[in-house]
Amino acid sequence: MNLDKLTYAGNLQNLKDVADHPNYTFVKADICDYSTVLKTLQFHNIDIIVHFAAQSHVDRSVFLKKFHKLEPTITELFEMSLPEDFIINNVWGTHILLECATQAWKDSNFEGKRFHYVSTDEVFGALALNDPKKFNEETRYNPRSPYAASKASADHLVRSYFTSFQLPITISNTSNNYGPYMYPEKLLPLTITNLLEGKKVPIYGDGKYVRDWLFVDDHCAGIELILTKGKVGETYCIGGQTEDMSNLELIQKVLNLMGKDEKTNLEYVKDRPGHDRRYAVDWTKANRELGYEPKHDLDSNLKDMVEWYKNNTWWWEPIKSGEFKEYYKKQYEDR
Ligand code: DAU
Repeated sequence: MNLDKLTYAGNLQNLKDVADHPNYTFVKADICDYSTVLKTLQFHNIDIIVHFAAQSHVDRSVFLKKFHKLEPTITELFEMSLPEDFIINNVWGTHILLECATQAWKDSNFEGKRFHYVSTDEVFGALALNDPKKFNEETRYNPRSPYAASKASADHLVRSYFTSFQLPITISNTSNNYGPYMYPEKLLPLTITNLLEGKKVPIYGDGKYVRDWLFVDDHCAGIELILTKGKVGETYCIGGQTEDMSNLELIQKVLNLMGKDEKTNLEYVKDRPGHDRRYAVDWTKANRELGYEPKHDLDSNLKDMVEWYKNNTWWWEPIKSGEFKEYYKKQYEDR
């Protein structure tokens, strides 16, 4: 059962391979809509929820108010993905899902039920470059963008339903995913598709920011392990590669794969406000308790990812010429 509002980054084409499977159902709904969510859980007898739904793009959450029209309509407010949208979807939406799960499952005493919340390593804030430290389950919360703060709020709400109502929850705090079908606002798909279009790659600041890259299949395998072997009430950090790599080094890898040179294809642009310097995830607990280990190697997956975008222009070209065009203009013009 896939429940999705299909906002700007949602796309049913991503699931075309499973769309006709007898075990698959799609419901177009908003997680903020209490009555539809509750009815769906009850009608389909749902016993496990994996809550992926979120406004997720940091840059959209730090748009300055100058992008506000004086009197935006409610629809425009939603479509513009301003900080409010992050609070509504990520905090309120999570609250509604938690309420619905508790209502739908309480009579069964939560037997065989699970509410898994997919969160982010961004709730922990930023690490310094060349610091041996990594984020783990004990790291103090220190979110630094409206997006990260909305996810952190939701983490706390999810835990509170465990202590207050015994709702059987688990949480994963995960690093930067990458792979096919990735909406082109994120660094890697933006880099690949810009290069395919003959455009430059915009690098924020000095390009020496570090992220922990996790192939999407490894992330999904981690979630499955938490569902099958994880302990209720617990949090697990799920990360990818263990060596630090700057954005610039990552983009250089893509340039090499695509036979493009750095000089003509990169453009240093104004930095993201409050840009977190470094993320690194210590997944020792998930390894020790669940046997989690990322299996995919960055170099070969990056190669596959480039090939995928080359071969699937039907997927990303219409996206880049639609709503995204307006977003790109706002985000990168005069930067
Ligand atoms: O760490 C997990 C998080 O990873 C998730 O919680 C977020 O939902 C997800 O969007 C991602 O956040 P980032 O801000 O790290 O991802 P993004 O792809 O936007 O940026 C990755 C790095 O690349 C970051 O240091 C900013 C930089 N960047 C990004 C873009 C879009 C650029 O230099 N130029 C760009 O045009």
